[in-house]
Amino acid sequence: MAAVPSYPKSSAATAMSAIKTALLLAGLAISRVLGGTTVDPAVLDACPGHTASNVKVQGGTLTASLKLAGKACNVFGSDIPSLSLEVVYETTERIHVKITDPTTARYEVPESIVPRPSSANPVSPTSAAIKFDYTTSPFSFSIVRSATSEVLFSTASHPIIYENQYLRTKTVLPTDANIYGLGEHTNTFRLDPDNTTLTLWSRDAYGVPTGTNLYGNHPVYFEHRSTGTHAVLLLNSNGMDIKLTRGALEYNVIGGVLDFYFLAGSQTDPTAAATQYAEIVGTPAEVPYWSFGFHQCRFGYTDYVDVAGVISNYSAAGIPLETMWTDIDYMDRRRVFTVEPDYFPLNRMREIVDYLHSQDQHYILMTDPAVGFLPNQSYGPYDRGTTDDIWLKNANGSQHLGLVWPGVAVWPDWFNADAQAYWSNEFALFYSPDTGIDIDGAWIDMNEPSSFCDLPCDDPFEQAVQQDLPPARTTLPPDPNTPIFVNSTPVRRQSKRDSLLVPQYAINNAAPGGNLSSKTAYTDTIHANNLTEYDTHNLFGTMMSVATQQAMLARRPSLRTLVITRSTFAGAGKHVGKWLGDNFSDEEHYQNSIAGMLGMATIYQVPMVGSDICGYAENTTETLCARWATLGAFYPFMRNHNADTSISQEFYRWPLTTEAAKNALDMRYRLLDYIYTAFHQANLVGTPVVSPLWFKYPQDATTYPIDLQWFYGDSILVSPVTDVNSTSVSIYLPKDIFYDFLTLAPVQGTGAHVLLKNVLYTEIPVHIKGGAVLPLRAQSTMTTTELRQTDFEFVVAPGTDGTAAGQLYVDDGVSLTQAAETQVTMNFTRSTFTVAGSFGFDTGVNTTRVRFLNVGKVPTTVRLNGKAVSAQALSYNQATKVLDVTVGLPLAQGFTVALN
Ligand SMILES: *[C@@H]1O[C@H](CO)[C@@H](O)[C@H](O)[C@H]1NC(C)=O
Ligand SMILES: *[C@@H]1O[C@H](CO)[C@@H](O)[C@H](O)[C@H]1NC(C)=O
Ligand SMILES: *[C@@H]1O[C@H](CO)[C@@H](O)[C@H](O)[C@H]1NC(C)=O
Ligand SMILES: *[C@@H]1O[C@H](CO)[C@@H](O)[C@H](O)[C@H]1NC(C)=O
Ligand SMILES: *[C@@H]1O[C@H](CO)[C@@H](O)[C@H](O)[C@H]1NC(C)=O
Ligand SMILES: *[C@@H]1O[C@H](CO)[C@@H](O)[C@H](O)[C@H]1NC(C)=O
Ligand SMILES: *[C@@H]1O[C@H](CO)[C@@H](O)[C@H](O)[C@H]1NC(C)=O
Ligand SMILES: *[C@@H]1O[C@H](CO)[C@@H](O)[C@H](O)[C@H]1NC(C)=O
Repeated sequence: MAAVPSYPKSSAATAMSAIKTALLLAGLAISRVLGGTTVDPAVLDACPGHTASNVKVQGGTLTASLKLAGKACNVFGSDIPSLSLEVVYETTERIHVKITDPTTARYEVPESIVPRPSSANPVSPTSAAIKFDYTTSPFSFSIVRSATSEVLFSTASHPIIYENQYLRTKTVLPTDANIYGLGEHTNTFRLDPDNTTLTLWSRDAYGVPTGTNLYGNHPVYFEHRSTGTHAVLLLNSNGMDIKLTRGALEYNVIGGVLDFYFLAGSQTDPTAAATQYAEIVGTPAEVPYWSFGFHQCRFGYTDYVDVAGVISNYSAAGIPLETMWTDIDYMDRRRVFTVEPDYFPLNRMREIVDYLHSQDQHYILMTDPAVGFLPNQSYGPYDRGTTDDIWLKNANGSQHLGLVWPGVAVWPDWFNADAQAYWSNEFALFYSPDTGIDIDGAWIDMNEPSSFCDLPCDDPFEQAVQQDLPPARTTLPPDPNTPIFVNSTPVRRQSKRDSLLVPQYAINNAAPGGNLSSKTAYTDTIHANNLTEYDTHNLFGTMMSVATQQAMLARRPSLRTLVITRSTFAGAGKHVGKWLGDNFSDEEHYQNSIAGMLGMATIYQVPMVGSDICGYAENTTETLCARWATLGAFYPFMRNHNADTSISQEFYRWPLTTEAAKNALDMRYRLLDYIYTAFHQANLVGTPVVSPLWFKYPQDATTYPIDLQWFYGDSILVSPVTDVNSTSVSIYLPKDIFYDFLTLAPVQGTGAHVLLKNVLYTEIPVHIKGGAVLPLRAQSTMTTTELRQTDFEFVVAPGTDGTAAGQLYVDDGVSLTQAAETQVTMNFTRSTFTVAGSFGFDTGVNTTRVRFLNVGKVPTTVRLNGKAVSAQALSYNQATKVLDVTVGLPLAQGFTVALN
């Protein structure tokens, strides 16, 4: 969920007139149209730039003054005459470059949202992997890789422009550069380097259209070359367009400061760029073991009987359902923290939760940030927030009114010091285990924040009527009590604040009319600490994420939680996971979901991610849903979700989808500890849980644009059929040894595309990369609780050098702080396989067998812990070259198998 119920006509004409009045740029080659500002690059390049003076270098720190080097060009306001430059070599791999106005305080991303890494102990430039070079007149700077002298970033020939509401920095790039990131967007994973505009401005982006700004904001990119991978973060939360034109990347930002982090990455391993980025924004939160189970959701479950029916039908179909979800349908007139008394009565909801918990299953409900504006109606969530005075305010101090599901609504101001206590209290009350709905995770939506109000939103009450919000339940007549406050005073906009509503540079915002405030809160609203929505808009979803995570942790203080959000900012993954928003049930969205996942998981450090399986809006088909069930089993976060007006799409609805889901969940569940181990590693240092092929084959240029195949964890190569109604797919296999996941037979990759034929709708091609030892559960189960009681087996898949290695991490799966952990290392040299480690957490399960792959002939002797094993303990398949050796020892004992 959720999008506007229908597409109301936007008041584009009104927005255009506002834009026009703000446009006083006669004489410049600048045009503003719906969809942003375009500027003749020559106009910007003709700006005077700066001269550096007073340059002071002390160890790993450089400071300088930057003075405007000529007549101000005042493209979108006034050029600031004098700036401060500060450069710090924070680590051997990280340089921080910050340009600020020394005379006037400007907005910066608050430390409370993105705590900065320490810059207290700068390193010596001589030891650094990248260097900051500069020229003083005209001032320009570049970042150079020390080992190769390659220029990674350079502002030469493109003057920096620094105005109150416009910042421009442009760097040269290699032609045909491999740039990834700068999301959230639905572009290809490798961005078209010649002609792409990436706009960052949180937006409720129904249908997640390609080439437009979406829900989240992650102003970081990785650039990959055959000589190395580096990363650049512009830590800025203001609206921006980042333009990739042939040979250049240009930031156009409408506020804040220039706050760059340059990361050296590595010459050989792209993973280093990811872990270095995690050092800035934080590593992902650990999530409960159960959250890797399968989730079922939809918008449009009509009542508790429907919800219970889905749970029963999954069980009857024998498809593992780990977690049931309910969208806003459960709410009374779409008001958060309420239940509809006839359709979703509390006692029946509690019955459902008790039932799920008794079956080791889980429950999640949607919570939106918008709280119905319902004064004098004894609506506790509104009344308490009013008493606590925590709502987002207009410039005149009145409550800012938007239009969301419950009708006219207010939003918590997450910057308000009392907002957390308010939110935690609402969660404690409504989601009380004793008297409320004892949810196991939280789902937060509409947190761009999304508003259905068309600009100018002078009378949201009238628009609530026009848009029929809250919508009536279709099985009953409209509710006569729908709150309509016709006498309330509409909020008037102050013209003096117009610069916050319509800055001169228009980012390419895809919301109706292009206005910054379109379909969200007005950008001149004021947060606590006098912060404006203009500056902090892109942080709303992340701040709600933090508040919700805290509220959930307060309910169950010692346990990890799962919070899934729609809107994110850099660093969100430290707190929450994310779904990729309101997609369509079609082949294009099925395919695009892979690039979306890679962006979040590989680049932005938000690895608990997935798209709505089978598609959200419009009607799915049996084949699409079957294919998507198998593809989605290899998203870190696997959830089937659907819109209210679409046909039902639970996996049990069709024979193909039932079988596809069972097959895929069998693989996913057997691999669950493998991905859990990868997630634990991500939590420790930020190694990606999923990654593109070039992460593993950085020298192989064919892999650079591939975004229809990926690695799930370190060594599972997933290659879905891309045309959903086809039974064949052309996949790329790098020059390496692979193994078919199901037969375990070796497959030699030659660095070429391979056509796979006869791939049934219920199947997905999955390969093990040579060099891995996989810890698999010996069989899959109906719940993850049962899975944890299932034995392990090890699959030893030697690489081209004949060796293989892997890791297994096991803990209790739920506690924030672990009393005991099991960390196992699996290691195979040409003839000896060892399982060893520390076994502090008692799994209580055995190792059943070891499966050695690519074994040319049965060895003369096989020894388990030095003792020759009997013939009955061996089984060899000549066709697939798999040798199975029975072990039958508790996992905690570790062991050695020697083949001779
Ligand atoms: C660049 O992309 C835009 C939007 O997709 C398109 O309208 C335009 O024609 C493209 N320009 C070039 C030079 O390819
Ligand atoms: C569950 O299955 C029963 C029997 O096939 C069917 O009548 C019912 O509509 C299904 N309910 C749901 C919610 O899937
Ligand atoms: C709510 O009650 C207060 C106090 O009685 C009153 O001042 C206010 O106008 C009422 N608001 C609405 C929207 O009815
Ligand atoms: C809040 O910010 C506005 C606009 O930047 C400024 O005019 C006003 O003085 C500030 N108020 C306070 C209390 O800091
Ligand atoms: C989806 O299917 C339903 C039921 O057949 C139909 O009423 C609806 O119009 C379809 N929706 C779309 C977008 O095709
Ligand atoms: C796949 O086949 C189904 C059934 O014939 C059809 O409804 C659907 O439109 C096809 N999908 C695509 C993407 O071609
Ligand atoms: C695997 O064992 C070999 C030989 O004992 C050793 O050199 C290597 O470091 C081990 N690898 C791992 C990952 O433990
Ligand atoms: C694990 O192996 C031991 C023997 O080593 C056996 O006694 C026990 O039954 C096995 N446990 C399970 C769950 O198979």
